[in-house]
This record gives sequence, structure tokens and C-alpha cells, in this order.
Amino acid sequence: MKLSLRFVLPLLLVLALLASAVMPLVDRLTFRWTEKDLDLRASLIANTVTEPVQQLLADGDREGLHAFFARLTQDERLYAVGYCGSARALVAGTATIPRDVRCDSLATYTKPGGHVIANAHGPLLVSARGAAVAGAPDGAIVLVQDMSFAARRSEETKRYLFYLFIGLGAAISVITVVVAQLSWRGWVQGMRALMRGEGLLRPASIGGAGELQPLADDLRMLIRDIETEHQLRDDERLTWTPETLREILDRELRGAEVIVVSNREPFIHVRERGRIVIQRPASGLVTAMEPIMRACSGTWIAHGSGSADREVVDAADRVAAPVDEPGYRLRRLWLTKEEEAGYYYGFSNEGLWPLCHIAHVRPTFRASDWEMYERANRKFAEAVIEEARTPDPVVLVQDYHLALAPRMIREQLPDATIITFWHIPWPNPEAFAICPQREELLDGLLGSSILGFHTQFHCNNFLDTVDRQLEARVDRETFGVSYRGQRTLVKRYPISVAWPPTESTAAQPVEVARSHVRSRLELPPDQAIGVGVDRLDYTKGLEERFRAVERLMERHPEWIGRFTFVQIGAPTRSRIGEYQAYADRVRALAEEINDRFANRRAPAILLLAQHHDAHEVFEYYRAAELCFVSSLHDGMNLVAKEFVASRDDEGGVLILSQFTGAARELPEALVVNPYDADQCATALDVALTMPLRMQRARMRLMRGLLREFNVYRWAGRMLLDAATSRRRGRFAGRPLRTPKHTRATDEPTTRVVAAEPAYGLRP
Ligand code: F6P
Repeated sequence: MKLSLRFVLPLLLVLALLASAVMPLVDRLTFRWTEKDLDLRASLIANTVTEPVQQLLADGDREGLHAFFARLTQDERLYAVGYCGSARALVAGTATIPRDVRCDSLATYTKPGGHVIANAHGPLLVSARGAAVAGAPDGAIVLVQDMSFAARRSEETKRYLFYLFIGLGAAISVITVVVAQLSWRGWVQGMRALMRGEGLLRPASIGGAGELQPLADDLRMLIRDIETEHQLRDDERLTWTPETLREILDRELRGAEVIVVSNREPFIHVRERGRIVIQRPASGLVTAMEPIMRACSGTWIAHGSGSADREVVDAADRVAAPVDEPGYRLRRLWLTKEEEAGYYYGFSNEGLWPLCHIAHVRPTFRASDWEMYERANRKFAEAVIEEARTPDPVVLVQDYHLALAPRMIREQLPDATIITFWHIPWPNPEAFAICPQREELLDGLLGSSILGFHTQFHCNNFLDTVDRQLEARVDRETFGVSYRGQRTLVKRYPISVAWPPTESTAAQPVEVARSHVRSRLELPPDQAIGVGVDRLDYTKGLEERFRAVERLMERHPEWIGRFTFVQIGAPTRSRIGEYQAYADRVRALAEEINDRFANRRAPAILLLAQHHDAHEVFEYYRAAELCFVSSLHDGMNLVAKEFVASRDDEGGVLILSQFTGAARELPEALVVNPYDADQCATALDVALTMPLRMQRARMRLMRGLLREFNVYRWAGRMLLDAATSRRRGRFAGRPLRTPKHTRATDEPTTRVVAAEPAYGLRP
């Protein structure tokens, strides 16, 4: 109704204004028209009466003339008649002749149109027509006609016009409201389709979205402009901090509840020699999420895997986190041994992990593992639902362990904003097709509002996979997938580290770190050291790294006893045979190389295969001449970024595998192919001999990038997109209709993941 009034009221206003402008015009026109009419009538009367008047004058019959005039004025519109003689004197006339009518003004009365005078009776039209008689050649008959009826006629016309405008207004209003209502429905449908990225619907009905093409194009551009502006605003923001995240939550997400769900917990409680101690797992995911949770004060749900985890939780399995300075809640979830074996060791790490990494290890898929994977995902999803205090929390689902959870959460919390981040590479469609449960996994992930990967390459692989495997609509322009009545945005969010690094506050100067590390490792004070920090995982390329050290010693024997490569290797997934065998091979290779280049000063390789906490690792980074990341395939690799972040002295060189996501962001590193031992050995030599000036120039650029593209930005970008997705969800209304699948072709698209640009060694 309100909407209709918006159309009708302005319309009526315009009509009223139009009417008030038209009325005086109509009035004037009616008067003129009457005037002309009467003037014409005057001529007719004059023509008719001239002869009898002349006759009566010629006869000198004054009384007859008076009587004749009196008869004429019986016509109610003829007010008075008279005759002016040659001496400009009234010879005869009716008693009604107004005083203002004078025979010496004959010239005025004979003009076409006559002359209007006013009197108490109303307006009168005075006209004169020549009627010569003997002795009065310029005599004339004067006719005075009543014009008051013209005023009456004008009033009547005005009244009719008034009714006409009212009728017109009513008719136009009704038609406008009906058409507007019909059009509006069509527009809304069209807009909804547009907001869902389905393009325009083209119903044949009136107001159908088909008519909206130009408007739709404008709207699309407007949305893009807003998004670009948003993005520019973000890009312009030079410092992303925990405060920025809080600000986004308060402003863009109106203080929404944040729930993180991951397999790995940010810290574990373990019993060591009778005491409970806290350990931080060697996990890129934890490194990235911890500062976010500190900033957002939400709830983090994770598998309680520490030996003393159960001993410290409250009745609801919660523990305040971080323990030293609580800022968020950790909710621990318990898995049975059987569940952990099937879900974590089995399906996640013997199935999905090798499936997604090109490291030449076959994936193993067992039906029993899948069963446990489903069951564990259900437990995580239920924990999210239990922890949610609002119907529309922002849920951040982490990694490949929880591919089914987004759909399970969506079913219970349809209004939740679910952001899933896949921390590892996404393989090409051919590789993914190996997985027997591929459709279920994709279905689970597409329960998310947003699905993030580190690189565009992995986003593309995901869309190609969905296109191949599901009856879903894939929009490559907006990078969205519409499936089962819901839309998922697929986007690149390169993960990063906290800036400034959390450990930097307690860090010793670089020189102190150098001497601490050398004395701890019993190395000579002038020993050059390189550092590697990894889980003992076959994707990390540790054998290739050691082979490169070996090649360096072969080609540059001057480094024997002068350079030691320190490898921190955190034990990982050690129940899996492949990992045990890998750790054994790595240990054996380190020993073999050390034997080969044995000398009195120092070993070529020092393998520290044990857990190190973040502060210890930070000290190693600061003490080293170089850091070597040689992953065979890695979603991002945060070790590379941590090393750069730790070097506030701007010294040190990063050698980085071209097969990491990080290589795309840090081209100032020495980017190498880890399979090419000679190239890697050259990189080691170049790094060890690089002048400080050049080290600084490279390091400064890399640090500049990390300062700006830090982990707060990574999370902030996702939260901003979540806010946009929420707004759109509301705008488009729920539930969203799933359009028909529109895949154009079933042709396989062949991609070779490793066929990326081969970066040369650039010292
Ligand atoms: O890269 C995938 C990932 O989940 C990382 O987030 C993390 O660094 C690593 O694997 C840890 O693995 P896990 O939790 O099995 O020790």
C-alpha cells in the first residue's frame, strides 16, 4: 500500500498543479470565445434591423423606433439597443442603455470584437454597426449584449475540467499501481536471480526480468564497483592488526559469534615425568588461527589429543585459552581410538593427504576409514551446534579433516555463515576422481558459504572438479558454485603469519641468538648454518634438501666443516607406516652424508627430530644464514614466512621451492626446483656468499609484503566476504532456488598440476 501511494501521490500532485495552471487559461479562452460569438451576433442583429430602423427614422416615427428597440431587447442576451445620429447624439434607445455608452465613442464600438464594459449587472459587450439615413450618413446602431452568461459558462467549463482531471487522475493511478505491482514482482524475481549469480530470468510476463537487462547490467556494475571499492579500502589499509579484525566483527558482522572448528587444537596438555605441561603442535593451521582467535574471542572446537587433555577441562569439556592470558574458549571433543585411527590416520592422512599432494605416495581408501571419517565429522558438527548461542554464527571450518562438516552444520544452522578453508593443495579433476567418496566430499564442502584455498590455481582445480563430478552450476565469472539450493563462493585467501610476530617481543638480538644456537649445538662460533623447520612429512622434500647439501659439499668442498644444515624435524603421524619409513630414510640419509663429509669441526647435517616450541624455532631462524624450504608440494608453507618475519635485522636468505604457494608471493627468495639437486646446491652457495647489502634488499621487500599481507588480513578478508555473503543472503531471501544444471560439455579438461612456470635460480 505504501509503495502504491508512492506512485499515486506524486501523480495526483502533478495533475493538481497542471489543473491550477490550466484553469485561468480556460477562463480566458471561454471569455474570448463568447466575445467573438457575441460580436458575430451583433453583426447578424444589425444586418436584420438596419432596414426597419432606417425606415422608421426616414418616417420620423420615434415612438415606433422606441417600441421596435424595446421588442428587440426582449431577447435576454440583448441588454440594450440605441441609434446614434450624425451629431454624435443618441437619437433613440432603450432605457437600459448604460451611461458609459456614448455616441462620441462609436469608433471604439465598431472595432472587430467590440468593447467590453463592466456594470453592476456584469460584463457587457458594446458593438456598433453603420446604418446611414438621410441627414445622418455616419449614423450607427449600437447594440449592448449581456456577457454575464459568459462568466457562468466559464464556471461550468471549469467545473467540468475539474471533474475531468479527477477522473483522469483516478484512472491513471489505478493503471499505474496495477502495472507497478506486476512489474515489481518481475523485477524482484530478476534481481534475486541476479544476486544469486544466475543471470536474468526471462519470463514472458509483464515486468519480467528480461526487460531488465540494462538495469541488470548497471546493477551488476554497481555491485562490482562496491566490491572493488571495498577491496581497495582493504588494500589501502596498510596495517592489519587484531583490532582490525575486532572492528570488522563489530561493524560488518555486528558482533557475530565466531566458532572455529579444526582437528588440531591450538595447544595440548601432556603429562611429562608426572607433571602436566602445555605443548603447541607443529602446525601451520595453529600458527595462523591462534592470533585470530585471540582477536575474535570466540570458541575453538578441536579434537582433544593430548595425553592430559581430559584432566584440565571443565564439565562441558572446555578450557580457557590461551592458558596464560585467556581470550577465547577451547572446547575439546573426544574421539575413540577406533574413530581416531579411521578418521585421522586413515581417511585424512592415508587417503586425502597423498591424494592432494604430488609427492608420489599412493593414497589408500578403506571403507572402514570412511565410516569413521563420517562419524567424526558428525561429532564435530554436533559440537558446533551445541556451542552456538545464536542461529547465525560465523563458523570457520579448517582443513581436509572436516570436509563433511559444512553440510552437516548447514542442515542444523541454515543461517550460519560457514567459511571453510582448505589448507592443502586441491588436485586436478583426474587425480581427485581416484577418491571413491569424491561426490560426498564435494557435497559436504558445498555446504559452506565460502570455500577458501591458498592459490588461484587450487580454486580453479576445485571448480573443474565440481564441474566434472556434480550436477552443479559453476559460475567462472564470479567463482561461485550453486548446488542444492545454495551458493558457495570459491576464493583465494593466501594464509600468512602474525605481524609483528608474536615471538618477537621476547626475542634476543640476532648476534645473541647466533651465539646461543652455536654453543647449544656445539658448533664453532664462526660456523655458517642453514635451517629447515618441518614435520617429518614426505611432502616436505627433506631427502631432496639433504641431497642438495651433499651436492654443495661435492661441488664446493670449502664448505665442509664450515657449513652445517640444522634440520628441525617434528615427529608427525608416526602411526602411519609411510611416515615411519620416511623418518627412517631421512635419519639414515643425514648419517650417510655426515659420514661422507666427516671432519673435525662440524657435521654437514644436524637432524633434531623432536618437538621444539615456537620461541626455540624463532631463535634458530634468527641465528641462521639461510632457511631452506624444499617442499615437493605445499599449499602455502608458513615456515618460509615465519623465517622472513623473524629477521628484523634484514639479514639471511630464503631458499624456497617453486612448488609452494609461498613462492608466488615471495619471488625475492631464491626460488628453486627441489628435484634439481644441482640447482639447489648452487642456491645454497649463492645464499652463503650473498653480500649483506643484497640480502637486505631482498629481505626488505619480503618483509614489506608480510607486514601488509599478514594473517589478520587473511582472516579479515574472509570475514569481510562473509559479511557480504550475509547481506546478499538476506537480500536474495531464503531458501534460494537451485537453477538447472547448465554444464555445456562433459569433455574432460586435462590439467597437469606440476606444469607451473619453472622459476629459474635468481641469485
Ligand atoms: O597443511 C595441512 C595441515 O593440517 C596444516 O594445517 C598443519 O600444518 C599440518 O597439516 C599438521 O598436521 P597434523 O595436524 O596432522 O599434525
